[in-house]
Order: sequence, then C-alpha cells, then structure tokens
Amino acid sequence: MKVLGIMGSPRIGGNSDLLLDQALAGAKEAGAEVEKLILSRKKISGCLNCEKCNETGICVVKDDMLEIHKKILDADGIIHSVPLYFWAMTAQMKAYLDRWCAFFNGEWQLHEAYRARMEGKKIGLITVCGDPDVSAADPIVRSFKNTCELSNLTWLGAVQVSAGAKGEIASNKTARKKAYDLGKKGATE
Ligand SMILES: Cc1cc2nc3c(=O)[nH]c(=O)nc-3n(C[C@H](O)[C@H](O)[C@H](O)COP(=O)(O)O)c2cc1C
Repeated sequence: MKVLGIMGSPRIGGNSDLLLDQALAGAKEAGAEVEKLILSRKKISGCLNCEKCNETGICVVKDDMLEIHKKILDADGIIHSVPLYFWAMTAQMKAYLDRWCAFFNGEWQLHEAYRARMEGKKIGLITVCGDPDVSAADPIVRSFKNTCELSNLTWLGAVQVSAGAKGEIASNKTARKKAYDLGKKGATE
C-alpha cells in the first residue's frame, strides 16, 4: 500500500504542510509506505490543451510532472493539502491538477492505458483558509470531488480547517486528528 502526499502550499512548514504530515503519519501507522511531494519545489507548467496525450497517454510538456504522473499511477491513495488563495486553490496545485489531463482520452474517460491503475484510487483533500468559515474553500473541494467522480476514483472526503498565521494549526488538536484519520483512511479503505 502506497500513499502519496501532495503539498500545494508554497509555505513550507505552514498549515497545509503540517496537516499533510499528520495525514501521512496516519497512513504510515496503518502500514502504508508514504511519500510527500512539495509542488513549489517542482517545475510544473500549465496544461497546453494540445490533445496529444489523448492519443498517446503521455504529456508533451517535459517537466517534473512526468515523474509525478508515474507516482500517481503507483499510489493506492493520494492526500492533497492546499490553502485557499483568492477563493481557489494555489497556482501550484492548479497546474498539477490540470496536468491530470494526461490520464484521459478525448472523451474525458480514463485513458485505456491507465484505467486499471486509476479506477478506485483513493483521493483525499485538506484545505486551509484564513476565513473562519471553512466553507470558503468549498470550490477547491468541488474541483477534486468532481475530478474523482469523472474518473471513477474513490473520494475519501475533505478535511476543511481555518488558520491564518504560519504553523497556527499546530495547536488545533481536532484538525490534526482529522487529518491523521484521513491519511489512515487513505491507507486502509
Ligand atoms: C495570495 C493569498 C491569497 C489568500 N486568499 C485567501 C482567501 O481567498 N480566503 C481565505 O480565507 N484565506 C486566504 N488566504 C489565507 C491563507 O489561506 C491562509 O493564510 C492559510 O493558512 C495559508 O496556509 P499555509 O500555511 O498552508 O500556506 C490567502 C493567502 C494568500 C497568501
């Protein structure tokens, strides 16, 4: 069992990062092999909508996302963690998600080459926002949930928390526990 953590905040050691560590600790506790990727340390350009991947299954943009595509295919569970930036996901996370295009054919069905390895893959999400109303991050949740529905992936659910200052979430025991449990779920369900 492999669980991949995708860190979408450029603030290393910030709230999304701390919660992702909790989730990966939960996955590890459940027996999974875990790996964390910090997107801001990777070179990931936006999708070009060139449609080449629709036939080949391979993206023409030669950057770090090609290696990440392989890691996604190999993972049983993927936990994403991202802060809310202007009522949306960060640029780093959006570039990553748009490049999922390579997993689909021209009809937005899973590409033949990847169907067996993608279907049922477990996907979880952690969102952090400064707004005390955590539903401010619902657009990010919708984005990931819809992607799961489109591609027959297993949606584990979202942990949505509120925090502003760097590392503030460390003192929020409830949030830490929820993230931990999400990671555990990613390794067991
Ligand atoms: C460019 C930028 C835009 C932001 N936009 C929002 C927003 O629209 N709504 C909100 O509630 N918080 C917003 N925030 C606050 C962050 O979501 C918040 O500080 C969060 O804790 C950052 O998480 P991190 O520590 O994982 O980076 C924004 C922060 C930045 C830097």
